[in-house]
Amino acid sequence: MAKNRTSFVCRDCGGTQPKWIGRCPDCGAWDTLESFTESAASATSSVGTVAGISLTGSIEPDGVATAATGVLAKAVPLIEIDQLDVPRIPTEISELDRVLGGGLVPGAVALLGGEPGIGKSTILMQVAASVVGAGRTVLYASSEESPQQIRLRGDRLIGEDLASANELFLCTETNLVRIIEEIRRVKPDLVLLDSIQMVYRGDLDAPPGSTTQLRRCCHDLVQVAKITGAAVVVVGHVTKEGQLAGPKLLEHLVDAVLSFEGDREHGHRIIRATKNRFGSTQEIGLFEMTGAGLQEIDEGGIAVEVDGPGISGSILTATMAGTRCLPVEIQALTSTGFLGSAKRRGTGLDANRLAMLIAVLEKHGGQRLADQDIFAAVTGGVRVVEPAADLALVLAIAGAHHGRAISRGTVVLGEIGLTGEVRSVRNIEQRLRELARRGATAAIVPSSQAAPSQGLGLEILPVRGIGAALGLLS
Ligand code: TYD
Ligand code: MG
Repeated sequence: MAKNRTSFVCRDCGGTQPKWIGRCPDCGAWDTLESFTESAASATSSVGTVAGISLTGSIEPDGVATAATGVLAKAVPLIEIDQLDVPRIPTEISELDRVLGGGLVPGAVALLGGEPGIGKSTILMQVAASVVGAGRTVLYASSEESPQQIRLRGDRLIGEDLASANELFLCTETNLVRIIEEIRRVKPDLVLLDSIQMVYRGDLDAPPGSTTQLRRCCHDLVQVAKITGAAVVVVGHVTKEGQLAGPKLLEHLVDAVLSFEGDREHGHRIIRATKNRFGSTQEIGLFEMTGAGLQEIDEGGIAVEVDGPGISGSILTATMAGTRCLPVEIQALTSTGFLGSAKRRGTGLDANRLAMLIAVLEKHGGQRLADQDIFAAVTGGVRVVEPAADLALVLAIAGAHHGRAISRGTVVLGEIGLTGEVRSVRNIEQRLRELARRGATAAIVPSSQAAPSQGLGLEILPVRGIGAALGLLS
């Protein structure tokens, strides 16, 4: 008889170990290994069969899908591969299409991750509506909500068009095998599954949401997509406590990983691709949650306050996200902590970069911060991961510490090196132009970029090092 194999999979990084150990040797996380049982029978399912259901023959693999994701069993010279563009199913939601690189790809699986309540189900319904509107068939498989709840949301988001959306199918099943049966029956162009944490395979001795179930179910869906040529979008929850196996575990199984971020207070939502086999991971999609669902917005929808007196601990700068430029406000707060165990927390910022900049401030800026708790944040739910915001962050921290500020209309751009020098940033003209358009009147820039910064209607204050920049705080 075939024996089941048990291994241990890290919930955070997906690394597999033969034995349980307290710390994952791949990512260093503690207590994240979970047992993962793979039945020998299911591991060797035959070609075209997923979870015991034969999908070949019933659904002909789409010719185009084969071109995009098909298998080449026999090696051929790369030059002989058709240069055909990857076929796409546009979602017609341009902010989402921009992130996807033109639309969903037939035969590929995209994972949409985000905290509960951020708007994942909302965007799925909107995608379903527009794809159906373009004459395609969509299967919306929800394992979280009742049919009535989904109908209610559909009415709210789609309204009267719902009456004519004959090709929008709904099932509220949690058993993956039955969902795959429905895919076989309905033959959709697009499958939306909400969420991967709630579906299960009955033949596995593990609860829904466990590592074993998540891995197997996701793997099955990847196979279903490949065989049927349907595009698949799978929702995955991320919890702050890391209770459920996060989408990290699934990242290497799927073709694209989209993460839904945002700031509930502002209503802004940002979708970015953290992995995309069919496009770039630079672009972001901007949305606003309204009473009528997620509305697309452009950079103009991210508001920044440029009027009024300077505020200590708050600096305006601009960050690049792909081809677009977003104005952002960096805030910092310092308070007395314990020497040797002072807290350093960043929201929307890279923690290592924050620590490095605090060290530079101490060494080259003459600041004493060893006993200071430092909190820094980017407002508006935007993540700033590029060094061009270094100088703004440093001025926000020093300003907060000394109760000093720069005038509100003065924006700050510059990367900081380990020796305290202010280095040039890319796309400075585009950033300054955008900030000037928003009403900025002056800019602190790296002295190496004083020349390209001229002529944009801003008073230019070039600085060579961090000391000179700190001198501008008053
Ligand atoms: P939801 O999409 O259900 O979030 P998720 O699936 O990620 O858990 O909805 C998130 C929130 O958005 C919910 O609290 C209600 C709100 N919302 C609106 O403000 N407007 C709308 O049109 C809809 C459908 C939801
Ligand atoms: Mg939901």
